[in-house]
Amino acid sequence: MLMRYRLIELLADGRIHSGQALGRQLGISRAGVWKHIQALEDLGLDVHAVRGCGYRLADPFEPLDERSIRARLETSVAARLHALQVHCAIDSTNDQLKRDATALDDKAFSVCMAEWQSAGRGRRGRRWVSPYGTNLYLSLATKVGETALGAGGLSLVVAIAVAGALQACGLEDAGLKWPNDIYYQGRKLAGILLDVSGESGGPYQVVIGIGINLKVPAAAAHQIDQPWADLSQSGVDVNRNELGAMMINALVQALDRFNEQGFNAFIKQWQRLDLVSGRAVELRHEHEPLISGVARGIDPRGALLIEHDGVTRSYHAGEVSLRLS
Ligand code: BTN
Repeated sequence: MLMRYRLIELLADGRIHSGQALGRQLGISRAGVWKHIQALEDLGLDVHAVRGCGYRLADPFEPLDERSIRARLETSVAARLHALQVHCAIDSTNDQLKRDATALDDKAFSVCMAEWQSAGRGRRGRRWVSPYGTNLYLSLATKVGETALGAGGLSLVVAIAVAGALQACGLEDAGLKWPNDIYYQGRKLAGILLDVSGESGGPYQVVIGIGINLKVPAAAAHQIDQPWADLSQSGVDVNRNELGAMMINALVQALDRFNEQGFNAFIKQWQRLDLVSGRAVELRHEHEPLISGVARGIDPRGALLIEHDGVTRSYHAGEVSLRLS
C-alpha cells in the first residue's frame, strides 16, 4: 500500500498523532511525514496540524473493509458474489468494473468500492466529487435480460432500492427526483449512474454506480455545483461497511424482482417516493427549446409524464434532463 494510504489509516481514528510516532510507524522521517500530510489535502481530507502535538483528521472515519462488508451480506447474496474489490483510490468504480472484462455467469455480480475517486463520473458528463473516506462510492456489475431492460425502468428501480436501504438506516424524508436522484430536504443526497453494454438482443452487462454523501468535508463542499445534502445533516449515523453491504443486498433483491416481474412491480413504490408529480417542471432536450409543464407521474415503462397545454406526453430518461421550476 502506498505510504499516503498507510498514513491515512493511522489518522483515521481522528485522534492526534505526533509526527515522530507517525514517522516511526511508517519508517520515514518527520519531514517525510509532513510532506505526505500536505499531499492529503489533494484527496479532499481536512488534516489539522495541532501545534506542538501532531496531526489529526477533522473527520475521523472507519476505513472500508472487505471482510466486514462480506460478513454483512445475506447468505443468498454472498453465494452469487463473483468478486468484491475495495480500493484506496481509483479513477471511477464504474470504469474499473467496465475494464474488468470477466464474463459473469447468470445471476452472478461483481462489486467495486473505493475510498476515493480521482475521476468520479456523474450523469450527463458531470463530475462526481469524491473526497477520501467520508462518502460511499459503490458500483455493481451484473447481467440484465433483454425483456426486463427493453421494458424500461431500470434506473428508477435502482433509485427505489437505494432509497429503501437509506430508509432502513433510519433516514426519514428521502424522496426521488425522476429518473434516479435521491433527495433529502430539497437537496441531492445520492446519485446513480448506469453504464449498459452488450450486443443487441442481450443479455446486457450493466454497471450500476451509486454515490451517497455521508459527510462532505468542507474542503470538498465548494467543488459541488448543485445543492447537496449529506446523511450527517439528517442525524443518521451509519457505518460505511454496513451501508455498503445494505446497498448490495438491496440492489441484488431489486434486480431479481425486476428481471422476474418487470417494472410493474415497482410502480407503487415509485409513487410513494416521487417528489416531482404535480409540480411545475422544465425539461431540457438537447438542441431543442425548453419544455415546461406539470409533472403527472410516470407511465408503465418509467417514462416521465408531462402535461402541457392540456396534452400529456411521455419522456424517457437519457433523452432529457429535468428541473423543478
Ligand atoms: C449523478 O450524477 O447523479 C450520478 C452520480 C454517480 C456517482 C457514482 S460514485 C460510484 C460510481 N462511480 C462513478 O464514477 N460514478 C458512480
